[in-house]
Amino acid sequence: MDHRRWRTAAVAVLIAAGTLISPAQAQTARKDDGLALTPPMGFNNWNTTHCRNDFNEEMVKGIADIFVNKGLKDAGYEYVNIDDCWALPQRDAQGDLVPHPVRFPNGIKAVADYVHGKGLKFGIYTSAGTKTCNKDGGFPGGLNHEEQDAKLFASWGVDYLKYDNCNNQGVDAKLRYTKMRDALHATGRKIVFSLCEWGQNKPWEWAKDVGHLWRTTGDISDNWNSMVSIAKRNMELADFAGPGHWNDPDMLEVGNGGMTDLEYRSHFSLWSIMAAPLLIGADLRKVTPETFEILENREVIAVNQDKLGVQGKVIRNQGGNHVLVKPLSNGDKAVLLFNENDSAANMSVTATELGLTKAGGYQVRDLWAKTTTHTAGSISAALPPHGSAMFRVSAAQNWYLYPPAITTAADGQVLYPGALPIVQPGRSVTYTTSVSNTGRLPIALVQATLQVPQGWTAKATSSSFKAILPGEKTFKTTWQVTVPQDAASGRFPVKASFTFHSPHENNPVTRQYSTEALVPGAAPKGDLFVSDLKWLRSANGHGPVEVDTTNGEAKQGDGGPITIRGKVFTKGLGTHAPAHVEYYTGGSCSKVTATIGIQDNKVNPLSLVSYEVWADDRKVYDSGPVSGTDAAKSLEANVSGATVTRLVVLDGGNGKSYDHANWGDLKITC
Ligand code: GLA
Repeated sequence: MDHRRWRTAAVAVLIAAGTLISPAQAQTARKDDGLALTPPMGFNNWNTTHCRNDFNEEMVKGIADIFVNKGLKDAGYEYVNIDDCWALPQRDAQGDLVPHPVRFPNGIKAVADYVHGKGLKFGIYTSAGTKTCNKDGGFPGGLNHEEQDAKLFASWGVDYLKYDNCNNQGVDAKLRYTKMRDALHATGRKIVFSLCEWGQNKPWEWAKDVGHLWRTTGDISDNWNSMVSIAKRNMELADFAGPGHWNDPDMLEVGNGGMTDLEYRSHFSLWSIMAAPLLIGADLRKVTPETFEILENREVIAVNQDKLGVQGKVIRNQGGNHVLVKPLSNGDKAVLLFNENDSAANMSVTATELGLTKAGGYQVRDLWAKTTTHTAGSISAALPPHGSAMFRVSAAQNWYLYPPAITTAADGQVLYPGALPIVQPGRSVTYTTSVSNTGRLPIALVQATLQVPQGWTAKATSSSFKAILPGEKTFKTTWQVTVPQDAASGRFPVKASFTFHSPHENNPVTRQYSTEALVPGAAPKGDLFVSDLKWLRSANGHGPVEVDTTNGEAKQGDGGPITIRGKVFTKGLGTHAPAHVEYYTGGSCSKVTATIGIQDNKVNPLSLVSYEVWADDRKVYDSGPVSGTDAAKSLEANVSGATVTRLVVLDGGNGKSYDHANWGDLKITC
């Protein structure tokens, strides 16, 4: 046998053994089926019900009804999908999957028919493994049953399959998912194929012709940290997405209650600009009008569904202030200014940075405020913590038909960028209000006022009135805010109001901007355990910071004793990178000491962090890399003079997984 013939024979053997796809098969099964040319939109029950009993036929029908009655179908939502727990743990005598008789007493086809009857599409779930994922054991998965299951799904009228990754028996992912693709293809029914292998095998590199979308991360949870960390991972993969093959950062949490509406707006804006699938994950029978308002924002949806099909890209990220840009099919640019941080941020970007052609002026549509203005070139927003602003910007001939874009803000003096504005009783602090005219036309009779809590005073130390504010100019006023000696501690609102006359508007325009002031309690005194103090603010990479226990998982209070290399600490903090915890130390403390290291039962090759201590804007301690095998380290940091002492844990650069970082025996001397 010559060399070439030998190779052909070997390939034939592999194909017969089912370990290789023949070139001919690959040809016929190529996924050029015209499906998911824009990111899929719809619903999936998992994020709201998991396997609870309220996941049933009634729910699915209820969602389909709401899609129609509440205008979601008209807004573009199409797929009503069911997730894990729809089947029984055993196949029937023919080897077919069996719908759960209590959840789906009329079978799955009846539900699919109902959904189809509403002019919608129906999706189902299984796993590319021997069993699905749910912790109660799951139901039989599709591995080695690809054809039979695909046929069954097609016979029920399934239009979308989410194919999970649990219990995969170590079989190559490419092989598992390609097999199901071919099985779906062989049914002759057009079925959107959603790969759910959590980004483990970099599907963005190989799945373009396998599935229409692929998960890029682990599961989302209904909290800010989870949503943001998933969004940031997904941002990096923008180049791999396009019509018919999308990055999937998991389903939406909007409306599930774990975030504020402002945070859900950021979540929805991020998913939209990233051309992510928009699968609603809340029980629409129970959500608030605000949730519907977010999910049905058609101008934001239009950005997501734009037929150019480009995933928005990060063009800048300054310490958690992200600028994302998505080119649109009509030449406009969608832009998202996103503030990941716990402190307010003034953000801006120029039309040139967005890649727009040079123009006399630009039209700016604010997709949440629903206003249209013009700008000479700068697009800005004053964003609250976790806030975002989303615009559609176009180079416009007739920009002058719209009023100039005006940004208003108020900022308290801070000790370091991103710090809380702290005002000690009996002292004064400076606030600055600003009105920025980023348009070309002037505004007139600009008046700023600052409102402070009762008993406090706010005195303008520069003019608070400007007769004319020309285009591309900012008007600032500084204020001295004084807090009485006997002021209570707490967080208090400081509200700025602005009025001005703008071209195109008959009445004066009024704008408000709310910020806050933090009045600290008494500074600590003596030798103290830090975990006995009340922090000003904390943030943690996974679940909350825990007091006197290690950081467990996502829930508060689920950590065990702090244990580093066999030694147990009854006092301390349990954090998870990236974390920061801030304490008011009022200039009266001198040193912080602790024993630091990764929690024993969380040690993993991926555990790698570094610890820092900051005295206001000065870094006074840096541990360098700390891994799970490193011995416990003694930390001593000089925090003399610090108004705020900050404890920080950073991810060591290899992702934040398994970064459970302890601060054992954490003490402060004041
Ligand atoms: C995995 C998936 C989730 C969900 C559950 C169901 O965790 O990633 O999206 O489908 O399984 O058990």
